[in-house]
Amino acid sequence: MKKFYITTPIYYVNSLPHIGHAYTTVASDVLARWKRLSGRDVFFLTGTDEHGGKIAQASSESGEKPKEFVNRIAGEYKARWRLLNISNDDFIQTSEPRHMERVQAAFEKLLKSGDIYKGIYEDWYCISDEAYFSESELQEGKCPTCGRAVSKLKEESYFFKLSKFESRLLDHYEKNPDFLSPKFRRNEILNFVKSGLRDLSVSRTRIDWGIPVLSDPKHVVYVWFDALMNYITAPGCDPAASNPMQPPFSQCWPADVHMVGKEIFRFHTVIWPAMLMALGIPLPKKVFAHGWWTVEGAKMSKSTGNVVDPQKMVEEYGVDAFRYFLLREVPFGTDGDFSERALLMRYNSELANNLGNLLQRTTTIISKNLDGLVPNLKYSPALLQEFPELIKKTDGFYDELAFGDVLEAIVGIMVKTNQFIDVKKPWAIPADQKGDLQKVMYECISSLKVLAVLLFPFMPEKSRLIWERIGEKEELSTAAVALLQAALSGKGREFQPHFSSGQTVAKGEPIFPRKAGILK
Ligand code: MSP
Repeated sequence: MKKFYITTPIYYVNSLPHIGHAYTTVASDVLARWKRLSGRDVFFLTGTDEHGGKIAQASSESGEKPKEFVNRIAGEYKARWRLLNISNDDFIQTSEPRHMERVQAAFEKLLKSGDIYKGIYEDWYCISDEAYFSESELQEGKCPTCGRAVSKLKEESYFFKLSKFESRLLDHYEKNPDFLSPKFRRNEILNFVKSGLRDLSVSRTRIDWGIPVLSDPKHVVYVWFDALMNYITAPGCDPAASNPMQPPFSQCWPADVHMVGKEIFRFHTVIWPAMLMALGIPLPKKVFAHGWWTVEGAKMSKSTGNVVDPQKMVEEYGVDAFRYFLLREVPFGTDGDFSERALLMRYNSELANNLGNLLQRTTTIISKNLDGLVPNLKYSPALLQEFPELIKKTDGFYDELAFGDVLEAIVGIMVKTNQFIDVKKPWAIPADQKGDLQKVMYECISSLKVLAVLLFPFMPEKSRLIWERIGEKEELSTAAVALLQAALSGKGREFQPHFSSGQTVAKGEPIFPRKAGILK
């Protein structure tokens, strides 16, 4: 079976991971976890982009040798991803031999085929973005992307014949409407390609921290050519082969989703597919560009001092609440504004008062009035009549990367179940009407069971905790695969949660203790 292959961008090691990097990585992780639950074999890749002038500069400022420096910062990324419970299957560093050798092989192959040729390059260069700009692209003489100063550079360079792929790219966008996602970003790319593509300079002679061109080592490979290749080098592509689609690479490729921020959409939807076409490799199925976070209305930047460190948020609110917030607060794809106030509000209203409270009241009533025994009734709970339909809908939302819609549906179950408790008032059901009480609590505990499963991709730790509190013994992710399979393959069958006889709830502290307002 082909694996479901999902990638994040590889992050530059000249800065430490911040909320923007965390956003892409958490979103990719949520998708990877869902796909695993729904029975797919997943390959989830992330990593670090370690070459180029900007990294060389950062390493010399730190006083370390480049390789020591990049390894240290890559280590910071790895540690941060562990903290955020990122379930990546591989982590690629572009300074690893497995990557460098394959980039060199690809470059030589394109030189031989004539898709890369030697010429002279002269234009305005922004070191921070590692990109050349023409005079007309500059904004008030500065870099149009970051606003920093640019300088005129002239160098011998190898060029990739990007212009040759114009009509093939347009044709691909036309025939594969999901390739450019979300849809509202499509026109930007179509217009860019239609306005004419220039050949792309893909080597540098002024920089030595990079991958040397094998046949002409005074050149190093341009960082974007180097970086984009990570998506095929990590799963083991041999670009020199006459047919690169061999195992293990062919088990992963084509990638199902390249997740990227909107500012690097063009690199992934114009340059990258053209490189793949030149190499004779099929194109990824989808490139999805999400929006950017500002912080309290302002652009996040080191100089403003408003960079949000995911570690601080995790220390304050817990990893799961932070992951939940990132994908709950704004529809995935559009820009959003981060504020701790908004995070605190979501935490208290949805996690503490809604989900946490639902678990607390359900387990408390079952402990007190039913001796802790989970009612093991053998029918489809009324609250979950539409569960199989909902799972199918949810699966569709995931395919569109509509994480906000997934969470909206999940919150709907929480709200409905809490309202049900308010109406049924199980605490007031007299002791001699135990059967009635069992029926009410069966509804609640069934909701909690599916909530633990549905929330698992977003909140793996708290979901496991809910799972334990309701007395489930099987490992959550294993049980979830069976439960979701049944719903996804369902022929409109009714859903039954299946509790074991003698299953008991466990009491404990609230899983999301309410937080007092702390805010500036
Ligand atoms: N190294 C390149 C990517 C090469 S991929 C072959 C790069 N690295 S980066 O470190 O600058 O990371 C860029 C990514 O970080 C963006 O695409 C986006 O995913 C994320 N973000 C960085 N700042 C962000 C925000 N303020 N908001 C949301 N995400 C942003 O570009």
